[in-house]
Amino acid sequence: MDAADELAAYRARFTITDDAVIYLDGNSLGRLPATTAGRVAEVVEQEWGARLIRSWEERWLALPTQVGDRLGTALLGAEAGETLVCDTVTTNLFKLLHAAYDLRPGRGTLVAHRADFPTDRFVATAVADQRGGLVSWLGPLDPDAPAPTEPLAASDVAAALHDDVAVVLLSAVDYRSGAIADLAGITAAVHRAGALMLWDCSHAVGSIELDLPALDADLAVGCTYKYLNAGPGAPAWLWVATRLHDELTDPVIPGWLGADDAFAMARDYTAAAGVRRFLSGTTAPIAMRCVEEGVALVAEAGLPAIRRKARALTSYAIELADDWLAPLGVRLGTPRDPQHRGAHLTLHHPDARALTQALIDGGVVPDFRAPDGIRLGLSPLTTRFTDVHDGLAALHALVAALHDATAGEPEP
Ligand SMILES: Cc1ncc(COP(=O)(O)O)c(C=O)c1O
Repeated sequence: MDAADELAAYRARFTITDDAVIYLDGNSLGRLPATTAGRVAEVVEQEWGARLIRSWEERWLALPTQVGDRLGTALLGAEAGETLVCDTVTTNLFKLLHAAYDLRPGRGTLVAHRADFPTDRFVATAVADQRGGLVSWLGPLDPDAPAPTEPLAASDVAAALHDDVAVVLLSAVDYRSGAIADLAGITAAVHRAGALMLWDCSHAVGSIELDLPALDADLAVGCTYKYLNAGPGAPAWLWVATRLHDELTDPVIPGWLGADDAFAMARDYTAAAGVRRFLSGTTAPIAMRCVEEGVALVAEAGLPAIRRKARALTSYAIELADDWLAPLGVRLGTPRDPQHRGAHLTLHHPDARALTQALIDGGVVPDFRAPDGIRLGLSPLTTRFTDVHDGLAALHALVAALHDATAGEPEP
């Protein structure tokens, strides 16, 4: 399978210092592209060291929209002028949820999912509260209910939609199960209720093909440090459909760089046109260059090939898990249909935390997701089929040892 892999050559485009480590966490922190260290050195020495403050005018001020356009047009199906690279997903969610409320005056309800990533739930709760509204939660009431494994359908959302809903916030790819929500069906249902759709694409960007305008989506946010390999703490992105730009009001964080003329030092804030108004304060040019490198690699490999390999890698992992782990009580927490999952999967076991730590100690690096998930990120540009085999073989050995030890215990 590795010999037939159309993306096999991309692994050499990354700096891999220890080939013996099986890295199955590229969906949390992507690997380091081989060109990034050199690019960072160049930015530090030339753009900062040599050009000093002049670099802001010469290059850096344009980066949030320039890198945003590169990312958006290559990976989101976006038009130029719709995508901005800045801040964190958390901050961008805060800004766009407030913007959504402003675009739907008189409506108070925000719809979100109980099983979504914590920051999404926390920010949704805070924004709804600040707007005097409330969150209408999707998903099981019981906090101990297992995390959903199947994709979210329009019918799951429909019951929560009514004429007081301003905005619906959901993840395009679930952070635990890897399930891809019915993006088009949900967006259409949300629009029928007159509300706006905000997709969190943190686990989707760079792992599945996205065409936000074709989905008729309104707003979106996402990470760059996962499948885009932009490095720890690299800035996130936000996207706003062009058709909404003329209706946008002043952002909740009216920072000087989001003002119409940042250097006018004006007495009062006037928002810049379009998405640029969501730029709050000074950006991080060094990290922005890392986003550029990561996006360029993903764009070069192309999402159709990335998606094909993600399906093949996850299918292979599921096949091995079915053979080796299911008989030992490990449960698959990811859709079986490859159409419905991204590039990661989750395996559930009551001892998942200890198993994950034992794997890491043995040189296999997945991550643990509470309460009982071992999450395997199979980043298509850098993960080999051999890694999937060897990683699951290591997990099999650990679970089998645990199983044997428990089976050997005397009956109480
Ligand atoms: C779905 C999802 N949303 C948001 C975030 C948080 O992003 P940030 O740390 O950039 O605010 C993550 C981080 O893993 C995530 O998985």
